[in-house]
Formats: sequence, structure tokens, C-alpha cells
Amino acid sequence: MSDACTRRAVLKAGIGLGLGSRLTPTSAEGQEDPTAIRPKEGDLLVKPGDSRKTPLTPDDVPVGARQIMAWAMDPSDRIVRSGSRLNQLILLRLDPTALAPGTRARAADGVVAYTAICTHNGCDIDDWLADQHVLSCSCHFSTFDPRDGARVVDGPAPRMLPALPLKVVDGTLVVAGPFTARVGFEVG
Ligand code: FES
Repeated sequence: MSDACTRRAVLKAGIGLGLGSRLTPTSAEGQEDPTAIRPKEGDLLVKPGDSRKTPLTPDDVPVGARQIMAWAMDPSDRIVRSGSRLNQLILLRLDPTALAPGTRARAADGVVAYTAICTHNGCDIDDWLADQHVLSCSCHFSTFDPRDGARVVDGPAPRMLPALPLKVVDGTLVVAGPFTARVGFEVG
């Protein structure tokens, strides 16, 4: 079985358990798990695996190149919101003049942020087609245009990727608001 098929099988199992539409997990005491709360206004961004939790700046995102992964981090207690895969983010730095007006309004120095979860069946957005300047999901080859709200260019994905608005504060990337739409994928 290929990696993609294995991943699909895992996802189907997740759908059966209702994970595709789950709400924020709670602890045994019924409190929200802060690592699984969706990114909030004021959060910083960090690279996965960065033990120093260094906040990302626009210069950390390569210009005109494939996406990098990131997590949001609460600036007050430095808790990284990596407790839910639905919080995975992709960042790209694009020419601001090439962005559609709505996308430009959410960008910070050309950096745009989207969910890393494909809106079709929930695979990771794992590829970048440099010649077309589109994001791609290799499970069923949906492609998305990050210059225009990550609208669907091709493939079975039913809707654009939810975006996460950004701003720059004191040279650092900061979340400017919640996701523009529900993060996740279609069940069934
Ligand atoms: S999960 Fe099917 S195209 Fe992404």
C-alpha cells in the first residue's frame, strides 16, 4: 500500500470516529486543551520542532518558494498550539502586488497563512507546483491558488483553504484574527 493510500485509510478511520468535525478536545476536568485551541488574534508563529520557540518574522519565509509549516503560539505562556493537527499552518511569502485584494488585506509583508488541512478528505497540503504557483494536495491532486484566497484551481476539493489573517508587529508575524472559515474537511 502506498503512503498516500495508507494515509487515506487512516483518515477514513478518523472520519468513522467523527474526527473530521471534532471540536476542541477537553481534558478530563472538562477544560479546553490550550494546545488544541485554534489560533487566536495576537498569537505568534513558530516553526515545528523549534525548541527555542523563536517567533517567525517575514524574512523567515522564503520569497516566492514553496510553503513552510508553522504552529501558532500563545505569546503570554508560550504554549504552542500543536495539540490538534487541524491547527497546522502553511506560510508562503508572495509578491504583494500579485495578491487579490482580499488576500492582500490578510497578508503581512507578502506572507500569507492557510490551514495545512485539505478541504477534500483532510490530507496535508504537501506540495508546491512552482511552475503554476499553486499549492497541491498529493492525495487526490487538488490544487489551490494562494494568491487568491487559496481558491480551488483543480481537483475534488469542495472549497478554498481557510486563511489565517496576519500582521507584523515590531518585525514579528502576528495572527490578526481567526481562520476565515471552519478548518477541516467534508465527511462522507
Ligand atoms: S484529500 Fe483529496 S485532494 Fe486533498
